Amino acid sequence: MEKFVIKGGAKLFGEVGIQSAKNAVLPLLAASVLTEERVEIGRCPRIADVLNMVGILGELGCETHFDGDTLCIDGADAANHEIPAALAKELRSSVFMLGSVVSRFGRARIAYPGGCDIGLRPIDLHLNGLRRLGVSVTEDGGYIDCTCSRLRGAEVLLDFPSVGATENLLLAAAKAEGTTVIRNAAKEPEIVDLQNFINRMGGRIRGAGTAVIVVEGVKKLHGTEYTPISDRIEAGTFLIACAMCGGGIAVKNTEPENIASLLHKLREISCKIRAENDKIYIECGKRLSPKIVETSPYPGFPTDLQAPMTALACVCEGATVIVENLFETRFKHVPELIRMGADITVRGRSALIRGVPRLRGADVFASDLRGGAALTLAAISAEGESVVTDLRFIDRGYSSFEYKLRALGARIRRVRI
Ligand code: UD1
Repeated sequence: MEKFVIKGGAKLFGEVGIQSAKNAVLPLLAASVLTEERVEIGRCPRIADVLNMVGILGELGCETHFDGDTLCIDGADAANHEIPAALAKELRSSVFMLGSVVSRFGRARIAYPGGCDIGLRPIDLHLNGLRRLGVSVTEDGGYIDCTCSRLRGAEVLLDFPSVGATENLLLAAAKAEGTTVIRNAAKEPEIVDLQNFINRMGGRIRGAGTAVIVVEGVKKLHGTEYTPISDRIEAGTFLIACAMCGGGIAVKNTEPENIASLLHKLREISCKIRAENDKIYIECGKRLSPKIVETSPYPGFPTDLQAPMTALACVCEGATVIVENLFETRFKHVPELIRMGADITVRGRSALIRGVPRLRGADVFASDLRGGAALTLAAISAEGESVVTDLRFIDRGYSSFEYKLRALGARIRRVRI
């Protein structure tokens, strides 16, 4: 087990570069199963979730290796359609394999996916959508079995614009016979990236980024080289870090329009923000409360930045209400922030935060990825020493997190327990 030992209080200055988006790379890795040819994913972060997905590709029979930061996947010999529980429970994105594996082999057997414990996280929309495309789905003993002699295009109306369900359906529909129309589709930038990737492989998808996506199935997809979009959640995490600690930083290799909802909130609390090409500059001293932050599907405020934003609201002047509309139990960082002197009351899906001038260092426990990042930000801005345990969750989504924070001036080190 590992922990961060942090001496808080330093302001942040300098530049930080952002990795390719975790939530873009993972569905792309699932899409690589759709072809027998070689696929190369550029600037691929070596985070735990990606390495676990690479393990799943290996289990299916794909050959994979890193060439620098490019991940090369050769699926010519892939032959297995089963993903055992030991691999599937490591990450939520194992569920994407249903769409691509059933497309490639006509059948898929996958243990229920794991992932961060932030709520019920059902997969009914994924399974019902696959059924619409002609897949027969049975659930038995913790496994999902999908079989299909031929995938057929269909109209699918999602009850909710689920990111994962939209991606799974794109993967299944890309080589289905005929046209699939997904209505009430998720509009996240990572969906657009998946569309662009599949189209680079020879697919015919249009409409991603809007509520209606049209997929014209093709017979064959070929290999490609592709560099995914940058990670808007990692970029947002560093911007919030600077807002909490004070100082001024530049966040490089970003797509500023993809985190417009965060930039709007940061301006509201009186941070100076300037976006120029792929860089975002932030300067922050005094912070006013953002008053209300409600998570919602893109382009609304992302649920993945709710925990870091909660940490920021703890040190803003005035009261803030944070409403978590997507996941039921995504406030596990709150008791830990309270140990650091935060004044927070949670009722159901809402948190009322009364700002304090400064948090105090404490020993805190990360129990999910973004909550762990939030606690790390709280600790680097707090007065005194903190310990953040354990780092398994943070390592799922951030590469070189402590190196990047240290380069900006934070006093943070990783210690093996
Ligand atoms: C993805 C992201 C995750 C992010 C989330 C919301 C990846 C790997 N994960 O997760 O980081 O926090 O989007 O932006 O990209 N729902 C159902 N039935 C389903 C599917 C979802 O009811 O079959 C509900 C969920 O409980 C939740 C909401 O829909 O309330 C949104 O979930 P969804 O967009 O599917 O999130 P994930 O794909 O799990």
